[in-house]
Amino acid sequence: MSLPWWQTGVVYQIYPRSFQDSNGDGVGDLDGITARLDYLADLGIDAVWISPFYPSPMADFGYDVADFCDVDPLFGDLAAFDRLAAAAHARGLKLLLDWVPNHSSDRHPWFQESRASRDSTRRDWYVWRDPAPGTGPGTGQPPRPPNNWLSAFGGPAWTWDKSTKQFYLHSFLKEQPDLNWRHPPLRAAMLDTLRFWMARGADGFRIDVAHFILKDPELRDNPPNSAPSGGHKPTAAYDTLLHVHDKGHPDVHEAFAEVRAVVDGYDERERVTLGEIHEYDLERWATYYGRPDADGRPQGLHMPINFGLLQTPWTAEGVRAHVDAVERLVPEGAWPNYVLGNHDERRLATRLGPAEARLGAVLLLTLRGTPTLYYGDELGIPDVDVPMEKRRDPAGITSGVPALGRDSGRTPMAWDASPSAGFSAAAPGNLWLPLHPDHAVLNVATEGEDPASMLTLYRRLLHLRRTTPVLQQAGAYRPLDGTPSSVFAYTRGEGDVLVALNFSPGEVPFSPPGGDAWSPLLSTHGPVSKNNLRAWEGVVLGRRDG
Ligand code: GLC
Repeated sequence: MSLPWWQTGVVYQIYPRSFQDSNGDGVGDLDGITARLDYLADLGIDAVWISPFYPSPMADFGYDVADFCDVDPLFGDLAAFDRLAAAAHARGLKLLLDWVPNHSSDRHPWFQESRASRDSTRRDWYVWRDPAPGTGPGTGQPPRPPNNWLSAFGGPAWTWDKSTKQFYLHSFLKEQPDLNWRHPPLRAAMLDTLRFWMARGADGFRIDVAHFILKDPELRDNPPNSAPSGGHKPTAAYDTLLHVHDKGHPDVHEAFAEVRAVVDGYDERERVTLGEIHEYDLERWATYYGRPDADGRPQGLHMPINFGLLQTPWTAEGVRAHVDAVERLVPEGAWPNYVLGNHDERRLATRLGPAEARLGAVLLLTLRGTPTLYYGDELGIPDVDVPMEKRRDPAGITSGVPALGRDSGRTPMAWDASPSAGFSAAAPGNLWLPLHPDHAVLNVATEGEDPASMLTLYRRLLHLRRTTPVLQQAGAYRPLDGTPSSVFAYTRGEGDVLVALNFSPGEVPFSPPGGDAWSPLLSTHGPVSKNNLRAWEGVVLGRRDG
């Protein structure tokens, strides 16, 4: 049985401010992306997901949307989007948009109307509440928020509106008021925005903070978190609470089933929904695939994004345990997915280390499931220590925890060794964020010439994946037992391909079962050696008669 494109394909995420600038203003744009599509087609990816490019005051760089159905002039216009969609489709590439259903910008006309008066017809399109009892107008006490919910970016999740004397809810910045998904007219209007972009050629959607859209209808307080974090990011006040009431209410599943019905039912084309679900309990994460219909096909998100590999200790044991759990928990009829980086994380090459990141590339592109790559990780671009005065991300500013800022992983793509790396005609000092310091070496042109570069490794892996049906199609995943403790090895298909990954900085003995039955297809280290794996080496072997 052949699988739909979103199961066989590889997704590539573009942060549009940083991919390619076509007009010399130092910020990337849609025409820039169009100009670089040949690179993406040649790299061997199948679908491009573009972070938001809608009109926005840019309080959260586009995740504060002021019009869900247009393009911000900074990035171009609808005609530029149409050019991009046509050019992508002409190359066989799919186009995924970033849909932001949880909140809008406070400048969105819907919010302007909503806040204008308590009687506004759009009042209930957002979440408004009176102050806590005994506080606010007439009590002699300053207004206090109706509950203890916090904004993920710092401070309370409620902002007081002086003129209508109520609080509005914002799970993120106060410039990003939460939309009220319990209000049918709002729901209908948001579903229409999906139809708008499908009519213009969108092949699917990455859904921003998808699980946030439905909260406890009674707005109960979140309980305290007695064991804050231990996650991979520095903690902030947000982690002092357990977020059981301010997101992920069970009603969210019915909302996703509705979203899926709209996306699947639009026309005969196969489209996809990839939901951003930050849920580290994998059993709960797997519920976002939804309940099965009469034919046994789950009816929720096509793929809740699996962030597990970002949390997992980078050891053979840790990574195997994660993959085994995903294989066990993804429901019948649903499809796994994996990711190692995105615009909210530290860069892969820095988080893991350059050799470890090469091993990560082999893992990501040989597991059973859809991989998502983050632009620039294929070059090994490191995190950039952006000087304080050049930092832009509000998450590192309003939270009071500078390390939560995400600028370091959002710096411009490097195409060549010229001063602005081929990213922009603007001078290096006029780019919206600085380039990574080693851009003269870590760029597409230079790495393209180097057989040992990260880019060459990604190209070879993507090519291998495309030309090896058990890697791309549903070929089973079976972990190998009895390997040295630093080695995670698995076969794909009916033992047609064997992947062995050495998660250690030292050489270890390893000979594949059946010895001579295998021929090398690829190694992170050039030629494969017979009976061992070198430091952080990953190899892919093919069965000779396979
Ligand atoms: C998601 C986005 C992030 C954004 C936040 C609020 O987590 O990935 O970049 O800041 O939602 O929209």
